[in-house]
Amino acid sequence: MSTDEMSKAVDAYVTELFELEDGALEGARARSREAGLPAIEVSPAQGAFLGILARAAGARRVLEIGTLGGYSSIFLARSLASGGRVTTLERDPEHASVARTNLEAAGLADCAEVLEGPALETLARLRAEAADPFDLVFIDADKADYPDYLAAVLPLSRSGTLIVADNVVRKGAVADPADADPRVVGARRFLEAVARNPRLRGTVVQTVGRKGHDGMAVAVVLGAEREER
Ligand code: SAH
Ligand code: DHB
Ligand code: MG
Repeated sequence: MSTDEMSKAVDAYVTELFELEDGALEGARARSREAGLPAIEVSPAQGAFLGILARAAGARRVLEIGTLGGYSSIFLARSLASGGRVTTLERDPEHASVARTNLEAAGLADCAEVLEGPALETLARLRAEAADPFDLVFIDADKADYPDYLAAVLPLSRSGTLIVADNVVRKGAVADPADADPRVVGARRFLEAVARNPRLRGTVVQTVGRKGHDGMAVAVVLGAEREER
């Protein structure tokens, strides 16, 4: 068995062992495929990881940038503390519509809201409205714009806010400074911005399995008292 086959087998084993995908999630995936959305949602194991982070953080206010069919939104919405809400941003009206159907079918319409439009515009509006800070932010939209998403969410964060960003490893391309793919350049600039921001403590968790070799950046916003380590 190749390493790739092995990691897919482990992913399948873990998904089954922890029963990570139920009918609502399967339905969301099926409806997304029927509607022609690309099969790029998080894997069940990655969705469960996001949910566990949300629970550990006691998250009530969750921001997602990049909804697609709402698959990851379902994991996040199910992990909210009581009275919590997921605000998820999607540029494509067709994707937003599929996501609303999926969230409704999962019984989560009350605690998840899809805001349609280019994310940077929606984020500017949230900032202008002086929205309460988010407890957890999941960045998963246009890869080239990751550095701009980071700059836009920091004013919507507080000490302790978790910031998670998908697809920052890209089969290892992130470690190649000569790679000019705008998605890779976006990931590198994002990671560099996290690394040099004294308000942030971050790392990258590489992932393998169903979606191949990739990884998520995980960062936490530090409080003033911790900035000096
Ligand atoms: N988080 C989803 C997958 C998101 S795929 C999941 O795991 O289930 C990325 C999504 O981001 C796509 O639906 C795409 O239309 C959307 N997107 C890309 N650029 C965007 C932008 N500038 N503003 C808002 N959404 C954007
Ligand atoms: C792509 C986007 C994603 O968010 C992802 O998880 C995988 C692939 C893409 O645009 O190709
Ligand atoms: Mg992704």
